[in-house]
Amino acid sequence: MKISGIGSSLPKQVVTNQMLAEILDTSDEWITTRTGIKERRVLSSEYVLDLAVDAAQKALVDANLEAKDLDFVIVANVVNEYVTPALSCIVKEKIGAKCPCIDLNGACVGFIYACDIAEAYYKIGRVKNVLVVCAEAPAHMLDWHDRTCAVLFGAGAGAAVLTPGDNIITTRLTSSDGWDRLYEMHDLQWCPFDKKGSTNLPLVMHGQDVFRFATSTCVNDLNVVLKEANLTADQIDTYFIHQANLRIIKYIEQMLGQPAEKFPTNIEKYGNTSSASLPILLDETKRAGKLHEGDMIAFSAFGAGLVSGAMIMKW
Ligand code: UT7
Repeated sequence: MKISGIGSSLPKQVVTNQMLAEILDTSDEWITTRTGIKERRVLSSEYVLDLAVDAAQKALVDANLEAKDLDFVIVANVVNEYVTPALSCIVKEKIGAKCPCIDLNGACVGFIYACDIAEAYYKIGRVKNVLVVCAEAPAHMLDWHDRTCAVLFGAGAGAAVLTPGDNIITTRLTSSDGWDRLYEMHDLQWCPFDKKGSTNLPLVMHGQDVFRFATSTCVNDLNVVLKEANLTADQIDTYFIHQANLRIIKYIEQMLGQPAEKFPTNIEKYGNTSSASLPILLDETKRAGKLHEGDMIAFSAFGAGLVSGAMIMKW
């Protein structure tokens, strides 16, 4: 398969570090030096669903396809407004597609997981055109009094239309122990026979543990896929790294011995948008004219699970 169209969508509301410093015991200086984030977008009047539909429609236009041409819709998402049905069912109906659809909770690795599942469908001949949408609002999972998490996340959506091709060179997915390093439990309805009580707790993240996992798994995953693809780090034109922390991205640059120009970033504008981070970055890089046909590109992401993934693709 190959990516034939890409699109993204972001909420209107900008929340700067300064705005956070007015409500939390934090500062622009701390957030910038520790994470690279200057501002993020947060849902105000929109829903996650609106971002997903908007990104999907833009990707279809970019691919010059119509929704009725789609054979499968995969939506990567952690939390949205609906427990049921799957977000993909609503996105599919809103854009006018008539095909099967599933949701996938791959946390920040959702884009790579979704592409890998789509590729398997291509390999067994089940699909021609697939839509992958990553739509997230992690900022709505947080305790906004908790400065350790509230400054990190933002909302956004990115989408990719996949069509037949042989552009995926190799993909690696991993899972490691450590689910309790980054998790949040559902707020379940009260049941008179359940003695456990309420589970209404916000996101829990052990930042330093996740940081260590991220840096080690990213470098390892990229080295493994480079080896599988029979490529050196120098032969990759652009590295798309999950936008969780600029320090993680800088570490990977150093470990691979590659120049910063090969690592586009938008974390400064959007913070961590979970699975949407990679397709939003891909879309912006493409629209900036920095992707050329035949370029070798690598993706790497890590997140709750703990899971990680890397993929090498010819553009
Ligand atoms: O996409 C999901 C994957 N998530 C990630 O990849 C996140 C990975 N982790 C990280 O990016 C970093 O660990 C963080 C950005 C979350 C935290 O940075 P850190 O350099 O690991 O800071 P820390 O947790 O060691 O905290 C250092 C200090 C602490 O104060 P004390 O104990 O030294 O007095 C924190 O309480 O910074 C304090 N702190 C803050 N200070 C001002 C934590 N958050 C803030 C804040 N503003 N927002």
